[in-house]
Amino acid sequence: MKALVLAGGAGTRLRPLTHTSAKQLVPVANKPILFYGLEQIRDAGIRDVGIIVGETEPAIRAAIGDGSAFGISATYLRQDRPLGLAHAVLTAEEYLDGDDFVMFLGDNLIEGGIGDLVTSFVADRPAAQLLLKRVADPQRFGIAVLDDDGCIERLVEKPSEPPSDLALVGVYIFTSEILDAARQLEPSWRGELEITDAIQSLVEQGAAVRASIVDGWWLDTGKKDELLDANRIVLGTVERRIDGEVDGDSEVVGNVVVERGARLVSTTVRGPAVIGSGSRLEDVFIGPFTSVAAECALTRCEIEYSVLLEGCSISDVPRIEGSLLGRDVTISRTERRPSAHRLTLGDHSQLEITEG
Ligand code: TTP
Repeated sequence: MKALVLAGGAGTRLRPLTHTSAKQLVPVANKPILFYGLEQIRDAGIRDVGIIVGETEPAIRAAIGDGSAFGISATYLRQDRPLGLAHAVLTAEEYLDGDDFVMFLGDNLIEGGIGDLVTSFVADRPAAQLLLKRVADPQRFGIAVLDDDGCIERLVEKPSEPPSDLALVGVYIFTSEILDAARQLEPSWRGELEITDAIQSLVEQGAAVRASIVDGWWLDTGKKDELLDANRIVLGTVERRIDGEVDGDSEVVGNVVVERGARLVSTTVRGPAVIGSGSRLEDVFIGPFTSVAAECALTRCEIEYSVLLEGCSISDVPRIEGSLLGRDVTISRTERRPSAHRLTLGDHSQLEITEG
């Protein structure tokens, strides 16, 4: 069995970060989202991994290389344009070479890995083995209706009147039958070849399409709030480890990771939180569910429920929360007159300001 990891796409909902990097490389608890999936694929005993890439191919290649650091063998498959998940499968046709494969969306995180999914598939080898998760807002997802035997009866993409609350999780196992189905597809209203349409056509042809329901968390990190939520949940699994320097005036409470080379001076960190290597924090409060990546410089500020990428520099800001900052972002206070906010923001940046 091979794996096909989808790390292309446009990532419009995570702009402006995706103007300069791949959304699959945005860190959750200071580790790129994509790495979690690759580790789960390896843990399921799969070695050959095709990685669908688009314009962000150089960044993805730089992060994963030949895959040996993850115990996999990575092959990059260029998708010229993000024309849909089923289009990505067709792009990989030659690589897949008729083999069964796990398809894993590179911006999805699931709890507990994919071992059980692979075992269920291997037992019966249906045309498709899907993962489903009960959700509160089924209108936003591809939704499955099951028959009494747990087989898929039909799939509906983002239904206005949902026939069930079982959403399709971004991890699937297919035999090569999915390629035949994908080849027959017409683009949907949004101009994409939809994997739900390909699976629906397998169902209509009478092929076995099975599903298991996941109990653990499933996180789709396509948007800022989802990413912060994923960071919250994954930080909840972190164990305390203090490898950096913490001075006598600092306090580190609960499950906090302070990486080697990080330095805390007169700083309180209330976990769960992670502080990356080389970061310097002085007179700072870091509240729960915050990830500070490497090489950040923070002074006299309070930050909670936020994700900071590498090289951020923040000083004299009373409180930041619910925020996602890209690489090398600088926020500082000035006494310059006229008293005003002076901003240099990338395209599609979002800023909420409170006075006082
Ligand atoms: P989506 O999040 O559905 O699409 P997107 O990346 O284009 O994001 P947005 O809606 O914000 O513009 O994609 C799910 C995953 O699949 C994600 O990791 C990107 C990847 N993908 C591809 O590799 N090729 C594609 O053609 C598409 C649509 C997605």
